[in-house]
Amino acid sequence: MKRFERFWSQGRHSKQAHRDLPEGTFEREMGRDGFDGPASHIYHPRPPTNWTSIDGPLKPRAFNLNMVEESANPFAVPTLLTSASLRIAYWQTSESMPHLVRDADGDELLFVHSGSMQFFCDYGHMEVDDGSYLVIPRGTMWRVETAGLLSVLLLSVAGDRFHEPTRGLLGRHALWDPGVLEYPKLNEQFRSQTDTPSSVLVRRREQLSTIHYDHNPLDAVGWKGDTVPVRLHVHDLLPINSHRYHLPPSVHATFECDAALVSTFVPRPFETDQTALKVPFFHNNDDIDEVIFYHAGNFFSRDAIETGCLTYHPSGLTHGPHPKALARMFEQPNDSTNEYAVMIDSREQLEVSTAALNDQIEIAGYDTSWRIDST
Ligand SMILES: [Fe+2]
Repeated sequence: MKRFERFWSQGRHSKQAHRDLPEGTFEREMGRDGFDGPASHIYHPRPPTNWTSIDGPLKPRAFNLNMVEESANPFAVPTLLTSASLRIAYWQTSESMPHLVRDADGDELLFVHSGSMQFFCDYGHMEVDDGSYLVIPRGTMWRVETAGLLSVLLLSVAGDRFHEPTRGLLGRHALWDPGVLEYPKLNEQFRSQTDTPSSVLVRRREQLSTIHYDHNPLDAVGWKGDTVPVRLHVHDLLPINSHRYHLPPSVHATFECDAALVSTFVPRPFETDQTALKVPFFHNNDDIDEVIFYHAGNFFSRDAIETGCLTYHPSGLTHGPHPKALARMFEQPNDSTNEYAVMIDSREQLEVSTAALNDQIEIAGYDTSWRIDST
C-alpha cells in the first residue's frame, strides 16, 4: 500500500473513524483503493450529499430493471454499464434458451434475482434458484431451461477470472466456507437431453458467431479438474460484524476479479455501542465506481428503492445514506438489518449505455434525492 507515513489533522475530528463524531457533524471518508488504502475523514456541519443540482453527465443514477424487456438469449440483452473489462446487464426470460452460449471473452457471474433455472453445461446439470450466484468459467458451453419468469443480473469480465475473495486475517473459512459451493452433476436430467441437434452462440471480442452441430455437444460421460461452474446461495453467506465499529462494505466480499470486488449484503446485527455509526458513512470512494443491485428485504440506507432496482454511484461524487436513514445514524428501531443486495465495486470507471438511459428504465430525480432543505 503506497501512502505518506504520517497523519495530519486540523480542527474538530474524532479519534477513530465512524464513531464519537464531533457534535453536530457528518463524517465523510476520502479513501483510496476501495476501503483498503490511504484515507482521510472530514467533518461537515451539513450532509455532504446536500447539493442543489448537477450539470453535466456525472450523476448518481438508479434503474428499475424490472422494466427490461424479456429475451430468451442472454447474449442479446442490452448492456447497462461497461468498462474496459466489465459488462453489467440484466436478463429476463419466460422461455427456455433455444441454443447454447459460450463466452470466449471471459468469465461470467450470474445472480438469480427471481425464478429458478435448470442449468445445463459441459459438466452436467444443476438447479439454480433465486438468491444464487453462478460463476461460469470462460469458454463453458451452457443453456438454461425455465418454467416461469427468470430475472438474472449478468456480470461478465473480459480476460479475467472470478475467484474467492481474499480473506486475510479472517481465516480461510470466513465469509463463506468453500464447502458450500455446489457444482453440476452428470445426472439423469443431463443424460436425458444429450441427443438433440444444437447450436452454440459464441461471443468473442464483442462479436457473435454460431457453431452448428447435428447432435448436442453437451454429451460428456465424465470429467475431472478444477475449472467448473459453481453455485453459491446468499443463505450460505456468513456476514462479518463489529458491535463497536461500522465496517466498510468491502468486508462483505463474495467474489473478486482484477477489475472488481463483488460483495453481498445479507441480514446482520446493527452495531450496539451508542456512539458507533449505524448507517454507512458518507464517502468518496475515489478509485471505485459503485453499483448496487437490490434483491430482497428493506434497504435501510436508501429511500424509494425497490427490489429489482440497481443504483450507480460513480467516482467523483460523494455518496452515503438518504435523509430518512440519516435520522437513524446512531439509533436503529430494529436489532438487525433485513436486506439482501449485491454490490459491484468496479476498479475501472464505468460508462452508462444508451439502453440504460431509457425513460422506462432510469428512475428520474435520483441525483437530487439526498437533498435536505437547509434554508
Ligand atoms: Fe459506497
